[in-house]
Amino acid sequence: MKLNAIERAAMNNPIRAAHQHHREAAWFHRLAGGNLAGQNVLEVGCGRGVGAEVLLDRLHANHVTAFDLDDTMVELARQRLHQRPVSLSVGDICDIQQPAASHDTAVDFGIIHHVPHWQQAIAEIARVLRPDGLLLFEEVPRHILDTWTFRKFTVHPRENRFEPNEFTAELSRHGLHGTARIEHHLGGLIFIGAARKS
Ligand SMILES: C[S@@+](CC[C@H](N)C(=O)[O-])C[C@H]1O[C@@H](n2cnc3c(N)ncnc32)[C@H](O)[C@@H]1O
Repeated sequence: MKLNAIERAAMNNPIRAAHQHHREAAWFHRLAGGNLAGQNVLEVGCGRGVGAEVLLDRLHANHVTAFDLDDTMVELARQRLHQRPVSLSVGDICDIQQPAASHDTAVDFGIIHHVPHWQQAIAEIARVLRPDGLLLFEEVPRHILDTWTFRKFTVHPRENRFEPNEFTAELSRHGLHGTARIEHHLGGLIFIGAARKS
């Protein structure tokens, strides 16, 4: 599901970019147990490309493959990441156009809560990760999406959302096992974690 104008403004601004570059990069660095040097990384739902920039500049990924459902976001990412080692495309997380076991790490900067059939998104991530590959995720739980503010000002699927325990249970069903305790940040607005493919 694409963003409405309000959430687009909340995502595409310098404060969020600074947050991703400084705080979120540090969280993922810690959860990954170090940087991603030499790795082939997949970013799902890349938006305007700040996440891919973080993966290259802060976590030292070798190459980032990134896609988003929204072609206008992908165009912004193309402009931002011009001449960087990034492959960009328009695509759907429920049907990732990548071979099985093709990536060392997959990164979700807050997109799976936008996907109506999110369980299919998890199945696809598990498919494209190599054995022992890592998923790093930042997500928004159901009880936050159910608040008046989120319902009034943002557009998300209403049914079939998840709390962190449901999210990690689905990961486990696809052979992605948590490597650390789930953390809650920004006053509980988001949860983050990591899971490794068995
Ligand atoms: C909250 S934004 C996050 C964007 C970016 N990851 C960031 O952190 O700035 C969610 C993004 O997911 C994308 N998206 C939603 N559903 C998607 C799907 N099924 N497949 C791929 N991308 C999707 C939206 O277009 C949007 O860019």
